[in-house]
Amino acid sequence: MTKPKEIFLKDYKAPDFRVEKVNLFFDIFDNHTIVRNVSTFSRSETAKPGSLRLNAENMEILSVKVDGNDLNSDQYKLDTTSNILEIFAVPDSFTLETKVKIKPQENKELAGLYKSDDIFCTQCEPLGFRRITPHLDRPDIMSKFTVRIEADKKTLPVLLSNGNPIDAGDLEKGRHFVLWEDPIPKPNYLFALVAGDLVVKENHFTTMSGKVVPLRIYTEEKDKNRVDHAMESLKKSMKWDEERFGREYDLDIFMIVAVDAFNSGAMENKGLNIFNTSAILCDAESSTDANYQYIDRVVAHEYFHNWTGNRITCRDWFQLTLKEGLTVFRDTEYSSDLGDRAVKRIDDMAALKMYQFPEDGGPMAHPIRPPSFIQIENFYTMTVYEKGCEVIRMLMTFLGREGFRKGMDKYFELFDGKAVTTEDFVSAFEITSGRDFTAFKDSWYSQAGTPEVSYVEHFEPGKYTIEITQKNNHPSAKNPYHFPLLFGLIDIHTGKEIQAGMWEMTDFTQTFEVELDTNISVKPVLSLLRDFSAPVKVVTKNSIETDLFLFKNDTDPVNRYEAGQRISKKIIQDLMVDEKAPISTEVLDNFGTILTDERLGEAFRAKCLSLPDLYSVVSENKVYDYEAAHVARRKFSRAIVDYHESKFLGIFEQFSGEPYSKSEDAMARRMLKNTALSFLSNATTNFESLAVKQFEKSDNMTDTMAAMVVLAKNPGTARDKALQVFYEKWKHDPMVMNKWFAVQASSCADDTFERVGKIESDAAFDAENPNKIRSLFGTFGRNFPKFHVADGSGYKFLADKVLQVDRFNKKVAGRLATLFDQYQYLDAKRQKLMRVQLDRILAQKGLSDATFEVVDRIRKSVG
Ligand code: ARG
Ligand code: ZN
Repeated sequence: MTKPKEIFLKDYKAPDFRVEKVNLFFDIFDNHTIVRNVSTFSRSETAKPGSLRLNAENMEILSVKVDGNDLNSDQYKLDTTSNILEIFAVPDSFTLETKVKIKPQENKELAGLYKSDDIFCTQCEPLGFRRITPHLDRPDIMSKFTVRIEADKKTLPVLLSNGNPIDAGDLEKGRHFVLWEDPIPKPNYLFALVAGDLVVKENHFTTMSGKVVPLRIYTEEKDKNRVDHAMESLKKSMKWDEERFGREYDLDIFMIVAVDAFNSGAMENKGLNIFNTSAILCDAESSTDANYQYIDRVVAHEYFHNWTGNRITCRDWFQLTLKEGLTVFRDTEYSSDLGDRAVKRIDDMAALKMYQFPEDGGPMAHPIRPPSFIQIENFYTMTVYEKGCEVIRMLMTFLGREGFRKGMDKYFELFDGKAVTTEDFVSAFEITSGRDFTAFKDSWYSQAGTPEVSYVEHFEPGKYTIEITQKNNHPSAKNPYHFPLLFGLIDIHTGKEIQAGMWEMTDFTQTFEVELDTNISVKPVLSLLRDFSAPVKVVTKNSIETDLFLFKNDTDPVNRYEAGQRISKKIIQDLMVDEKAPISTEVLDNFGTILTDERLGEAFRAKCLSLPDLYSVVSENKVYDYEAAHVARRKFSRAIVDYHESKFLGIFEQFSGEPYSKSEDAMARRMLKNTALSFLSNATTNFESLAVKQFEKSDNMTDTMAAMVVLAKNPGTARDKALQVFYEKWKHDPMVMNKWFAVQASSCADDTFERVGKIESDAAFDAENPNKIRSLFGTFGRNFPKFHVADGSGYKFLADKVLQVDRFNKKVAGRLATLFDQYQYLDAKRQKLMRVQLDRILAQKGLSDATFEVVDRIRKSVG
């Protein structure tokens, strides 16, 4: 395949035309939809005269009119390779009317207008609008929209779009229409349309200026009792954004629609958010605590976009982190303000290390604002979102909460109604703080890779000195990063904190001095990168004794957790080299402390008990050996549980049998109990009956799944029975069946590969649905010991799936293909096996640009 075209940030040009008004007319029929688009164009003052080039993909052009006059077919041309509709001669200002025919029923890419079950819906971000109607499909054109939808009234009684309904009525032949008007200018990627047989749950929110806003969540009839939690989250989000950022909702109604076929989590379309069912629907019986938390967060995230994304949007798609990093930052602050901040911080740090660090250390590495791409779809990444959030968090750490708020206020004041860049964003903080963030911008926004921080300490009575060095491994990283290092110094004798503060790194190597009381005679113990104050790796040479000391004495919960993880990692790594490596009683006793110290809080205890994930264990080695890491990790787990058997049993029993509640405290207790259950499943004594009992008695999905996960590890009658019972109960519920797929695909059981193959032909599986693809194939690809099995069968399987999905949904295929991204870290034998599969994908005729971009980058990471 010839290399598809790469697009560069540096080539950005302002648009030649403005589009003031967009008036859309949809006629929806069973087999096709007619879309009429009447838009007003005016050439910008600086543009030269010339033709109008519109994006138009996957459509049949029926007619084109300029100022009411029909154009002949020689006055315009649709190029189906570049997907450009060129209109050769246009005046400086005119009304363009196009009429096209599209086929939502056949749209499996789920971009543009498509059908999810019987619901017509849209996904336009980033480039879906051009699959609906010819247009200048770019975010720096903001227009006022009206939308008239016409459809059969019986099958499609609910017709929705952005803004407010201003007219509706019945038409001939059983059809009806609704006319919508959105008074606020927006980029076309925020356009949305929904038509379906939906039921609605309604509530309302009174804004800070006293406006009563109806809130409506639309679902299929069968799901109508699963929206209460989301509704609560929506109201909490609206309130929080007023209190924390002074942001009030701007339209007269706010709507959410749940659909089952959706490429990502959810979409912030103006006034009409569209959600993947997995990100909105829940009830105790069918959803886990993690689902509840995820839904709370996604509802908040999409709502927050109304200000960060919609009213202030991106100039171009390279700026994606402008809205995504910032909105993730806002949703993490929301969760932290309303929940347990320390535990939330630990979760976010752990997720970054587990998912973003490998991205930054692999062939797909890119700065949070990428300089180029082939397919923007491939850049909806952990880096743009979660690292982007961390970059903004650093601004808050530099400026404090209030200083940060001032910068945000300035940002809203300066850029409301505009399409802007990340430079514009940072400039608001420079203005309000008087600080110069040039070095900050020049490092974090344009360099890839995770910086590595190391240090050398020096002590003499009265003075502590530290020389800190940052090393940037990625070739794009030429400038030193500018970041805050929160730290503490702890007295080795008393365990008391002597000093705490912030060092600011701006150079490759810097020395910092701390004056100390002269009666401190021994070097204090350093706690560095408190609160995970920057998205960097710290290289420490701490002994296990020092980390035990920190675990006991550090006042920063994030660093306590980190010290514990370092200890566990070291032991697992030792066990990988020597299966008889000793585990000291001090380390085992520390687990005993966590098990019994009730002052720590249940959620924090559960986090600290949990052993490091396999990636963090292997990634400190040159070659990743997942099988060995898995065996060693289990061995360590067994050593811990055998040593503390009665304590684990005690926890398990203490928190079992509590009636279900969705309160945060109850969730924390379930987490601790299920962590204990997981340990017990690794014990020498066979505790399978505990899991069986929990499975049978459970009144909520968290406990059911925790028991299933444990049972799924061991092939046998207990497992088979649980899986069967679950299947019979839920086989008609697509949302819940995803859990059944995932629990098997993530199992370390010997027959996992076989079972994944069998599930594919199960009636409950749907090979075209992204949620199903992710829960079966995606989960399998993250089951590293299985995916990287020595005979290469995992690679062949996943390559087959990537090719299969690529035929109809390039975005999901490209995402799936990223699972090959550890290619450069495998042993020679595995590399060879993977290479065969990568080459096979690249040789596929008709391979999409999206999948090509990912696989080509991976393939090139090894010469
Ligand atoms: N903007 C959406 C969000 O809230 C995600 C859109 C994803 N679209 C895509 N093509 N990947 O994060
Ligand atoms: Zn977002």
